[in-house]
Amino acid sequence: MKSLRAGVIGCGNVAGNHASAYRDLPDTELVACADVDSGRAARFAAEYGAAGVSPGEIFGLGLDVVSVCTPHPTHEAVVIEAAAHGVHVLCEKPIAIGLGSAARMVAACERAGVRLGVLFQRRFWPAARRIRAAIDDGTLGTPVLGQTSVLLHRDTSYYTADAWRGTWATDGGGVLMTQAVHNIDLLQWFMGDAVEVACSYATVKHGAAIEVEDTAVATVRFASGGLATISASTALTPGLGTRVQVTGRTGATAGLAEYPEGSEARLDVWAVAGQEAATAPFGAGLTGDLTLAQINGSLAPFHALQIADFTAAVREGREPAVTGREAVKSLAILTALYASAASGSPEPVPALGKEITV
Ligand SMILES: NC(=O)c1ccc[n+]([C@@H]2O[C@H](COP(=O)([O-])OP(=O)(O)OC[C@H]3O[C@@H](n4cnc5c(N)ncnc54)[C@H](O)[C@@H]3O)[C@@H](O)[C@H]2O)c1
Repeated sequence: MKSLRAGVIGCGNVAGNHASAYRDLPDTELVACADVDSGRAARFAAEYGAAGVSPGEIFGLGLDVVSVCTPHPTHEAVVIEAAAHGVHVLCEKPIAIGLGSAARMVAACERAGVRLGVLFQRRFWPAARRIRAAIDDGTLGTPVLGQTSVLLHRDTSYYTADAWRGTWATDGGGVLMTQAVHNIDLLQWFMGDAVEVACSYATVKHGAAIEVEDTAVATVRFASGGLATISASTALTPGLGTRVQVTGRTGATAGLAEYPEGSEARLDVWAVAGQEAATAPFGAGLTGDLTLAQINGSLAPFHALQIADFTAAVREGREPAVTGREAVKSLAILTALYASAASGSPEPVPALGKEITV
């Protein structure tokens, strides 16, 4: 079987999860890694046995697939350049910080005939797949009530370490955009299209370092009639991880808990008649906060599963598990959450997920 030639653009915190996955896949060769910081690209590429190159050089190397691991506001330009070179592209979350940007990315990839995938590796947790299957097979039925909590710790140094973090212009938002986007993606994957939100947010801890929110609460109404709540913060010390729970029309409830942050979630509630099972919250006690490198490292097995799905999709000529269009749905919810917090009123969720126009 011909080896797929893979590259990674952006050699920061999360890039190792991509490079190791491409390196370890049997039918894929990690060819090159690029960064605007040439020293960083060289050091990072050497670690994974690849060539360190500039962003201008990487598309001259005949790549088949590329991962985009650059800051959110740069995703659009890099993805569109990949599409222009006929390279299939797997972009880190969130797809972009604005819906116009996301729409242009989706349109460029569709016009060029390349696959666009977006990293939401938490969908690859077995616990998340089990909940999704219980919705599909009628065990839960259509979800009518959902809740997610994203109760994390970040040091202020997390925001000050990189200039792009914590501003509206370059980060696009705070805990909702960068951390809770994973849980918002899971909520909408379970509950279907969202139609209206109401949101309120505050900056309770990191205000000296950031202009965006570090704490938020919200409600979401879905096209199915289902309702959900979101609470999210990076102001906790120690952090308490994340949860997602849904109750279906059958009355049954299933929930998953990720603790500590980054670890594989477990089903902590399976309240299905005749199959009842639950685990004590924090049954093993509080373990304290992991470093960012440890959190990202413990996500790597699920990055590897999504990257294996993406390369298989390229080979098989099918859509990947999480497409660009699918990733637009969580961004549309985020856009409405920020609009609602600004207006002080409920706001509709833009329906851009269905009709991508530029
Ligand atoms: N899926 C996950 O769980 C997960 C985890 C962490 C980060 N992320 C996402 O990955 C992206 C990167 O996050 P990070 O924490 O690794 O950031 P980072 O700041 O640690 O690294 C970004 C790297 O990109 C480089 N860069 C910036 N602009 C570039 C450009 N135009 N071309 C090439 N290189 C460029 C920077 O020099 C830096 O080395 C973000 O969108 C973030 O949301 C996802």
